[in-house]
Amino acid sequence: MGISKVSLAFILLVITFRQRIQGSQEQACNSKDLTALKGFSKCLGSDIGGWNWNSFNCCSWTGITCDNSSFVNKRVVGLELGNKRLAGTICETLVGLEQVRILNLSHNFLHGKIPTTLFRFQNLEVLDLSNNDFVGSLPVVIHLPSIKYFDLSKNHFSSLLSLELCKTSSHIRYINLANNFFGEASLYLENCTSLHYVHLNGNGLSGAFPENLFRLQHLRILHLQENRFSGPLHYGIGNLSNLVELDISSNGFNGSLPDFFGRLRKLDSFSAGSNRLTGLLPISLVNSPSLSMVDLRNNSLDGPMNINCSAMTRIASLRLASNNFQGPVSDLSSCQSLRNLDLARNKLGGEVPFHFKNLQALKFLSLAGSGIINISSALEILQDCKNLTILVLSLNFYHEEMPSNVNLKFRSLKALVIPNCHLKGSLPIWLSGCSMLQLLDLSWNSLGGSIPFWLGNFIYLFYLDLSNNSFSGEIPESLTGLESLVHNTVLLKELPADLRLVKSTGHGGRLLYNNIWSFPPTIDLSCNKLTGPIWPSFGNLKNLHVLSLEGNDLSGTIPDSMSEMTSLEELDLSRNKLSGEIPNSLVHLSFLSKFNVSYNELYGDIPSGGQFTTFPESSFEGNEALCTRMLRPCQIEQVPPLVTPGKKMKIVDWKFSIGAAIGFVLTVCFCFKSGWVLPKG
Ligand SMILES: *[C@@H]1O[C@H](CO)[C@@H](O)[C@H](O)[C@H]1NC(C)=O
Ligand SMILES: *[C@@H]1O[C@H](CO)[C@@H](O)[C@H](O)[C@H]1NC(C)=O
Ligand SMILES: *[C@@H]1O[C@H](CO)[C@@H](O)[C@H](O)[C@H]1NC(C)=O
Ligand SMILES: *[C@@H]1O[C@H](CO)[C@@H](O)[C@H](O)[C@H]1NC(C)=O
Ligand SMILES: *[C@@H]1O[C@H](CO)[C@@H](O)[C@H](O)[C@H]1NC(C)=O
Ligand SMILES: *[C@@H]1O[C@H](CO)[C@@H](O)[C@H](O)[C@H]1NC(C)=O
Ligand SMILES: *[C@@H]1O[C@H](CO)[C@@H](O)[C@H](O)[C@H]1NC(C)=O
Ligand SMILES: *[C@@H]1O[C@H](CO)[C@@H](O)[C@H](O)[C@H]1NC(C)=O
Ligand SMILES: *[C@@H]1O[C@H](CO)[C@@H](O)[C@H](O)[C@H]1NC(C)=O
Ligand SMILES: *[C@@H]1O[C@H](CO)[C@@H](O)[C@H](O)[C@H]1NC(C)=O
Ligand SMILES: *[C@@H]1O[C@H](CO)[C@@H](O)[C@H](O)[C@H]1NC(C)=O
Repeated sequence: MGISKVSLAFILLVITFRQRIQGSQEQACNSKDLTALKGFSKCLGSDIGGWNWNSFNCCSWTGITCDNSSFVNKRVVGLELGNKRLAGTICETLVGLEQVRILNLSHNFLHGKIPTTLFRFQNLEVLDLSNNDFVGSLPVVIHLPSIKYFDLSKNHFSSLLSLELCKTSSHIRYINLANNFFGEASLYLENCTSLHYVHLNGNGLSGAFPENLFRLQHLRILHLQENRFSGPLHYGIGNLSNLVELDISSNGFNGSLPDFFGRLRKLDSFSAGSNRLTGLLPISLVNSPSLSMVDLRNNSLDGPMNINCSAMTRIASLRLASNNFQGPVSDLSSCQSLRNLDLARNKLGGEVPFHFKNLQALKFLSLAGSGIINISSALEILQDCKNLTILVLSLNFYHEEMPSNVNLKFRSLKALVIPNCHLKGSLPIWLSGCSMLQLLDLSWNSLGGSIPFWLGNFIYLFYLDLSNNSFSGEIPESLTGLESLVHNTVLLKELPADLRLVKSTGHGGRLLYNNIWSFPPTIDLSCNKLTGPIWPSFGNLKNLHVLSLEGNDLSGTIPDSMSEMTSLEELDLSRNKLSGEIPNSLVHLSFLSKFNVSYNELYGDIPSGGQFTTFPESSFEGNEALCTRMLRPCQIEQVPPLVTPGKKMKIVDWKFSIGAAIGFVLTVCFCFKSGWVLPKG
């Protein structure tokens, strides 16, 4: 029994000891740090999930890392609360985290000024406050001797940027101040010799190219785009021999491109679009063995496009659109990696070069507005680019005939964009073989004949624009069975997001889609000569967002089933010969933001409720027998003979009657002025 007593005592001892250890772990977190965190949490005004105020071991709280140096009195070395929906401000008490090495409060809703004392942490290596709503200016002298990573991007920091970070911080590798409101810049970064990454884009910075950057020999990525820098580009940029990515687009740089690419042996990506650059492509650029992406869109560069593919072995993306380059294009046959080629809006002229046949990797090609002729030869050549996915040929081939050659084959084509070319002829049968087609835009041409039924067979087609042509006959009912508009089966997003496309809208407007696949699911057959009914089966198109049948000769009624197109945002049926009433069920289209049935032969009441409370009078005008709220309320006008009997009349109050009377007078005046009542001259 003695032995068991001893062992019991031993067990008890062990238990107490373990409890003591646990107890000491309970108090493991340094009290200064605990106070600092308490103050921090108070200023936030929102709770931090996973912070347990009953436990003094702040080391176990969410987002907190402590050092391993001792059991007791552990110091907080990391505070990482990115993307935790924190709101409120940061207050000075946080300075108590003396040993902190990582401070990450990015992607939250923090606002207000940052206490200047926060820029004095001795051991801080990583500071990430990006994606918040901080305001105010930065202190001129920042004392962060250990800092390596400094990210204040996407906030509202303002005032002059006068940064002397490297007087004290010589190890810094990464600076990101992008997308703030820093005005003029005095960047004293020349002693930051360890800098690899500098992001200053989107700040409204002005002045000349910051020359003190030229000494940063380790610089790999330099982003200066979307500022107001101006003046010439300095040859000294060539000193940055480790640059991999240089983006200076959307500034006011002018003059010619210096011939410094031979010294930038690692440069992979060069963007200088939307500046005011002039002159020729530098020899060292068109012979660069390292460049895979060149974007010089929207400048005033000229001369020949003398790309040397034997030298530019890595080039995959070449965007020279909107310049004054002259054709012919040099032989690109051996640019075997070329995937994106945008030469739109230059002075190419002539036919599509024969050697384009050899661009086997080509996925995106735009030659819009380049004075290209002979669409037959263009398509014959380009069908050999077996990987071609997006083809944009707008504003060329004026008044030519759409080739009907049945042998054309575009197996990979997903988007075909040839609007605004005055093309004659009809929809060619070879198109039916483009079975991958997702987007077809042949608007603003002079194509005629009927719309073939096989258009309904494209299983991926979600965007069809045949507006402003001369198509006649009925709408093929097969369109109401388009697979990807019936079931939400779209979309294959596989190309770079910044391939922009402009869509002209009828009334002089232009829509800019930054990504071709961001086009909303659309059927636009407006401004043709289509006749016959709107098929009730349109109701099947549950994934359709935009339907425009404006400006045709469609007749019959608006089918009740249209209310089943539950994704519909825009419905334009104006300027047709539609009759009957507007189905009441359309009030259930809860995404409908544009609706137009003007200039038809509709009658009866306008549905009330739902989105219908938001549509203006002009959505309904020009229907003789339609009761419109202001112009012609049913209550005053004679009930038109066609209206089904037994329709309830609303009780008219006196305010409404006066409004209606004034409206009536205005209508009469308007009709006289516009010549409806008295024909003009
Ligand atoms: C603490 O020690 C563990 C295990 O040795 C290690 O994984 C962790 O990174 C250390 N933490 C710090 C902040 O040093
Ligand atoms: C900070 O946290 C965010 C969100 O968790 C994360 O995306 C980001 O990479 C972190 N920053 C650093 C420098 O690690
Ligand atoms: C850069 O370093 C040099 C030499 O150490 C020094 O004279 C100069 O003041 C420093 N410049 C800045 C902006 O820190
Ligand atoms: C470029 O580097 C050379 C030496 O490699 C140096 O003499 C010259 O001053 C540098 N240019 C600029 C603009 O910093
Ligand atoms: C560049 O623009 C400045 C004014 O913004 C002008 O003085 C200068 O002559 C221009 N240089 C060239 C080469 O066009
Ligand atoms: C083209 O560049 C000018 C500035 O040079 C800019 O104002 C304009 O917005 C740019 N256009 C496009 C389509 O990016
Ligand atoms: C094109 O590049 C090749 C390989 O670098 C070179 O031998 C040739 O001279 C270059 N051609 C021209 C016209 O510069
Ligand atoms: C064409 O595309 C296919 C599939 O995306 C790819 O495997 C192939 O390498 C591409 N061809 C060329 C020449 O790039
Ligand atoms: C267009 O090119 C084809 C060859 O693909 C040729 O037969 C035809 O004559 C050309 N048409 C014109 C108008 O030049
Ligand atoms: C139809 O296209 C022509 C050019 O072919 C254009 O001038 C006209 O404005 C367009 N009309 C509408 C209504 O879009
Ligand atoms: C409806 O269409 C007519 C004619 O096409 C146009 O005049 C009117 O501005 C349009 N109204 C709305 C709200 O779009």
